[in-house]
Amino acid sequence: MNFHTPKVSIKPIAGALGAEISGVDLSRSMNEDLLSEIKSALWEYKVLFFRDQDLTPEQHITFGRQIGPPQSDLFVKSHDKYPELIELLKEADDTGYNFGGSWHSDTSYLEAPSMGVALYARELPPYGGDTTWTNMEMVYQNLSPAMQNMLNGLQAEHVAHGLKQQLKIRKGDYAISFNNADEIRIEVKHPVVRTHPETGNKSLFINPAYTYRFEDMTEEESKPLIDFLCQFAIRPAFTCRFKWEPGSLALWDNRNTMHFAINDYEGHRRLMHRYTIAGEKPEYGV
Ligand code: SIN
Repeated sequence: MNFHTPKVSIKPIAGALGAEISGVDLSRSMNEDLLSEIKSALWEYKVLFFRDQDLTPEQHITFGRQIGPPQSDLFVKSHDKYPELIELLKEADDTGYNFGGSWHSDTSYLEAPSMGVALYARELPPYGGDTTWTNMEMVYQNLSPAMQNMLNGLQAEHVAHGLKQQLKIRKGDYAISFNNADEIRIEVKHPVVRTHPETGNKSLFINPAYTYRFEDMTEEESKPLIDFLCQFAIRPAFTCRFKWEPGSLALWDNRNTMHFAINDYEGHRRLMHRYTIAGEKPEYGV
């Protein structure tokens, strides 16, 4: 096989997280050195951006598989032809809620939430439709030692219902199709502080979309602290924001970030393809 061994350049886009990678053609197979360079950059910057990529769905999947195996989504329908992909489409006449339009970490309601995502932009509005991420390691590091100590021992409950029910989807909210999972409710317990399996770094692992209470506390008792932490987590200094172009691909680590897709392009179409990478059970290690 003809492997791709280019000169990679890495340019951070913000102080907190995020870097643009240039010199890599993702349509070509990567050798071990390039793959490990990309993975090291991912562990360091948490979200990587590759511009001007020309990928068929098959090449997108092949790239994603080199990072990790795919994870299917219980609630969202896979692409008709490519089960490893989800089509995130918002049509020009869809009004209201957009997919990913609240701060979240993907599938935190699963025993093994996803490790990450490779999201590829196919069609974009003329303006808007940016995505933002926040660095949950930086968030943890910026909490006071007393707060960190208290959170270190805690577990939190994450819950998901059939998405239509959970998001109160109305006609026109967005054109993504859902699995027939409205009756499903899944709930799982995870450490509030998780340790990254590659770097050993600790990060806060709760999110406002799915985390609803701490173990052995009522929702009423938990809510003020969850609200405080989730607000603290999205301080602008902990975030980065990416302006997509057709052919941009973002690869992010879902274990130590949250993200938010901005819905500011009403009247325009946006089409993304998402490859979700399977992850492991979150652990807290000292
Ligand atoms: C998501 O995966 O949450 C969607 C992100 C986006 O469409 O920008």
